[in-house]
Amino acid sequence: MNRIAILSTAILLTIAGQVSAADKGASVTRGRTLFMTSGCYHCHGTQGQGSGSATRLTPKPMPAEGIAQFIRSSGTRMPAYSADVLNDRDVADIAAYLASVLAAKSPDAIPALKDLKPTL
Ligand code: HEC
Repeated sequence: MNRIAILSTAILLTIAGQVSAADKGASVTRGRTLFMTSGCYHCHGTQGQGSGSATRLTPKPMPAEGIAQFIRSSGTRMPAYSADVLNDRDVADIAAYLASVLAAKSPDAIPALKDLKPTL
């Protein structure tokens, strides 16, 4: 009986270790969903490009730690999000999403746009 208990504890600890290791990889897809459902997009634009009401966050957002600090405490015009609303994993996923947004290409690098001539 004791051997079975020790064996099952060892198996559970191994599984728990694998789950927490998997959690360390932040998810861009989940972060994008959270950016939309938490209302960030409303002020910062769907890709963090900025809007009339809030700052541009992308491309090249501040480091993940800075984003996390800002989400928790924020400035005067941005609401603070407590850990009850967005937990640390949510915040890490949002930071991963923002880091994944690439800079827009120059119109000259897009053949269809490069060939367009103004018609005025
Ligand atoms: C009600 C509008 C609003 C919402 C919603 C909002 N923000 Fe903001 N955010 C702002 C404004 C305005 C600033 C500029 C600083 C200030 O005045 O608070 C800002 C600043 C920031 C900054 C710092 C940018 C910099 O370079 O200084 C980050 C990072 C940020 N927001 C991320 C987020 C994330 C992530 C969310 C969603 C969880 C979010 N914001 C939701 C309005 C908003």
